[in-house]
Amino acid sequence: MQALIRPSAIALSIGLSLGCGGALAQDAAPAADVSQSSQAAPKYQSIAGADSPDKVLHVDVLLSGDGNLSYQVTRNGHTVIEPSRLGLILANAPKLDRYFSYDTSATTSHDDTWELPWGERRVVKNHYTELRVDVVQKKWQDRRMTVVFRIYDDGIGFRYEFPDQPQLKKLEIMDELTEFAVADTATAWWNVAGEWNREEYVYQKTPLKEVAEAQSPMTLKTDKGLYISFHEAALVDYAAYWLRRVDGQRLKTRLAPSALGAPVVREAPFPTPWRTIQITDSAAKLYNSSDLILNLNEPNKLGDVSWVKPYKYVGIWWQMHLNTGTWEYGPRHAANNENTKKHMDFAAKNGFRGVLVEGWNKGWEDWFARGDDFSFTQSYPDFDLPALSAYGLKKGVHLVGHHETSGNVAVYEPQMEDGFKLYAKYGVDSVKTGYVADAGGAKVKAPDGSIRFAWNDSQEMVRHYVLNVRTAAKYKIAINTHEPIKDTGLRRTYPNWVSREGQRGMEYNAWGDPQNPPEHEANLIFTRMLTGPMDFTPGILSLQGQGKPLISTQAKQLALYVVLYSPIQMAADLPENYAKYPKPFQFIKDVPVDWEQSIMLNGEVGDFATIARKDRASDNWYVGAVTDEQARDVEVPLSFLDANRSYTAQIYRDGPNAGMTGDARFDIVIESKPVTAGETLKIRLAPGGGMAIRLVAGKAKK
Ligand code: NOJ
Ligand code: CA
Repeated sequence: MQALIRPSAIALSIGLSLGCGGALAQDAAPAADVSQSSQAAPKYQSIAGADSPDKVLHVDVLLSGDGNLSYQVTRNGHTVIEPSRLGLILANAPKLDRYFSYDTSATTSHDDTWELPWGERRVVKNHYTELRVDVVQKKWQDRRMTVVFRIYDDGIGFRYEFPDQPQLKKLEIMDELTEFAVADTATAWWNVAGEWNREEYVYQKTPLKEVAEAQSPMTLKTDKGLYISFHEAALVDYAAYWLRRVDGQRLKTRLAPSALGAPVVREAPFPTPWRTIQITDSAAKLYNSSDLILNLNEPNKLGDVSWVKPYKYVGIWWQMHLNTGTWEYGPRHAANNENTKKHMDFAAKNGFRGVLVEGWNKGWEDWFARGDDFSFTQSYPDFDLPALSAYGLKKGVHLVGHHETSGNVAVYEPQMEDGFKLYAKYGVDSVKTGYVADAGGAKVKAPDGSIRFAWNDSQEMVRHYVLNVRTAAKYKIAINTHEPIKDTGLRRTYPNWVSREGQRGMEYNAWGDPQNPPEHEANLIFTRMLTGPMDFTPGILSLQGQGKPLISTQAKQLALYVVLYSPIQMAADLPENYAKYPKPFQFIKDVPVDWEQSIMLNGEVGDFATIARKDRASDNWYVGAVTDEQARDVEVPLSFLDANRSYTAQIYRDGPNAGMTGDARFDIVIESKPVTAGETLKIRLAPGGGMAIRLVAGKAKK
């Protein structure tokens, strides 16, 4: 371990005001002061700093004023994040905001790889410099805090660590003071936070200085061509943060409130979640850099997870969203024995492992945002769980369980373990959960036994989501959470947390008020999808919602299986609709869900994206591309292919007359041709369109 203690402070404010990019070269001599009298004290003192492994990013930790702590980030010498505050406000003790003095610091480097049991890639590289800075508040009985930075070439993570100390045993955290002050003028793609519809909003694209309060992740493009994403990693036993714009381009974290008191209550020692900033010089690199979030999470805590299976599934689902069937028991009850068997037969015939059945259990009569009546062990009379599960398993088809809770955790938690036990008894090894409550409408039990309303990203709910996944793991059950806590990479620690929703999925196209706009997926890929898998439920080849046509081409529906990563993917349309379109349906049957490697080839936030992925189980590659409302010619350089093989490209692309309305949506060309690694395919995407390619590997040449 190499100690990094600086003999003297660097006059940072002078460098900044000179407009020299604020470069904080570690050993730079103090710059001349031209902005103020040479007697003026420097505003910031750098107390520690470190470079990323290839010296692309550099972080400095600063003290200013009366011991205010902040940090700054530069990229190749150019300031990306200007001095931004660090600290916390407590309810039970003086603030952790000033009177800090420097104690010690240390840098270490780390370079290894680890394997994802399932994922966008098998091998993840983890190469960073760690900078630990210990600070002390002498004024408050020597209270101590450590700020830890992990500095990668394409992003940083930092967190606060609180040691065991009698003078700060219990922390009631009212708010964090953590800031992100963006240096260059930027455009933001963002979702409002703290509003009734949780994360499920149409993305807004505005100048950063017009953002109000945003959910993370939030993505920026600066006028210097940098792409930035703010998010968090390893959100455990803590409230999620929202990003509130303070002034100009300065954002501040705000912790999701609690109905019980301070947003976070913890006993030291503990670390906060990591606050993350991905920084790259292209949109494609931003997407390709998102292993940062996984790397900042703890390794797998579940041991052997070979029981967690990636899979494709169909389900008794879209018909409820079309309102041609109901969840509750009655004449149109969809979760009945006959319908389940029909779906199982269809799944077996087409090679899908799973059949999701929603509405199988009692309590759906008045469920919306209420959930008081749900039973997680009692079926409606027309649904025979043991018999149906056995019927499916004989055909190699697994029932996918469903726990809708309406966000009523107070009713769910006492039944949760029994619910999983029941499923495990009958061979159900994955469960979709649901928390349909408006934001702030989840119900939790307070320590005094009373029922309190909670945000779905409050500390209480963060605890619940993790408890749910850990309890499921005891029964070797995988979880797909809808209306979830945002993804912060916990699938590394709990690999049975296979997917989640957390943005507007396909269901909005069924309801249609309004539907997802054509740019929605091109927004998702560079925002929500940076955090991990999404159960978007693609593949609506009928292109028809409740009375409203989908604004999409058929080829785009196929592309979604490649561009929107999830280890579980639904073929969401009705079986009878797939029967009408056997040729495009073939791609849905062929496409895998578990990948050896993934590479974004090209893309722009909110406009388009082209992604190539290699199957984990074969030598085949798959490519998907989507566009917004603009037609586009995308290039697919096939340099990722093995030069020692030839391939057959099975191409599903928008036809010459394709478009996003009327019959034009169904104009699809399906063609096959030989290709090799040296070639670049040029493919036209229609407005609202997309394309999908399966590259079938021939034998390797000797
Ligand atoms: C919302 C989920 O996103 C959807 O998939 C599910 O069908 C309903 N809740 C009912 O649980
Ligand atoms: Ca939902």
